[in-house]
Amino acid sequence: MIKILNLLILCLFSSCIVAETIAIIGTGNVASALGPAFAKQGHEIVYGSRNPSNPELQLLLDQTLVVNLQHPENKPYVTSPREAAEKSQVVVLAVPGSAVSEVVLNLGDLTGKIVIDPTNSRVLGDDGHRVYPVETSYAEIIQDLVPESYVVKAFNTLNYRTMIDPDSSGGQVTIPIVGNHKPSKDFVANLIRAMGLEAIDLGPVRFAHILEGMLFLYVYGREAGTPFNYHLRIDE
Ligand SMILES: NC(=O)c1ccc[n+]([C@@H]2O[C@H](COP(=O)([O-])OP(=O)(O)OC[C@H]3O[C@@H](n4cnc5c(N)ncnc54)[C@H](OP(=O)(O)O)[C@@H]3O)[C@@H](O)[C@H]2O)c1
Repeated sequence: MIKILNLLILCLFSSCIVAETIAIIGTGNVASALGPAFAKQGHEIVYGSRNPSNPELQLLLDQTLVVNLQHPENKPYVTSPREAAEKSQVVVLAVPGSAVSEVVLNLGDLTGKIVIDPTNSRVLGDDGHRVYPVETSYAEIIQDLVPESYVVKAFNTLNYRTMIDPDSSGGQVTIPIVGNHKPSKDFVANLIRAMGLEAIDLGPVRFAHILEGMLFLYVYGREAGTPFNYHLRIDE
């Protein structure tokens, strides 16, 4: 039943989404989940890698192309992070949080672009659990570095495997998003819903501090033996 519902949602949103060129900076787990998922919605995907000629990236391109057969003109490719960002109206920062400032500063002019930030802290405190490595949040730091862009924090509260296969969680999954620009949040919410996930706008970018903290709880719960995902029930 959930699978049929997800398929219907996918068809509904795929048909009304305007195709964009989306730069995915990074070629790791999150990039491999979001790139094919966005390509499936008809968007053109450009990966930005520090080593674009790495032959191992062919597999990622194949995975992205396979699901994009309906739009053969949108062939995915890999280039440098800067060129990927320059070609795109939407930029996803699928890189370690510790590297995100340096990455953003090397992407060129991001004025007017939607910058999707899924980054999290991997820093552990003395007790072995996650700690904030920055006083505010990665999302706020990015927004300060590129004030004329539209930063949307999203995708940081779930595992990349759930992004690939939402049904694997056994129920609905919500992705909370925050940012200062409503139209950009709406765009990201549509990407999310077309993946078969739920999206909820939880406020301005300064609330990213809380979203990045939600990951701490997610990781703790899982390490303690309670696998879960966020499902924030929306009142009718
Ligand atoms: N894994 C998850 O389930 C998950 C879920 C939600 C959010 N996140 C967050 O999303 C971000 C990406 O996670 P991921 O799991 O995709 O990480 P990952 O598998 O380690 O991939 C990160 C990618 O970032 C690129 N990169 C650019 N600068 C880098 C640097 N200085 N050091 C290392 N890599 C660099 C690399 O691509 P190139 O080598 O091609 O440049 C690398 O493949 C992280 O901030 C993570 O906390 C992860």
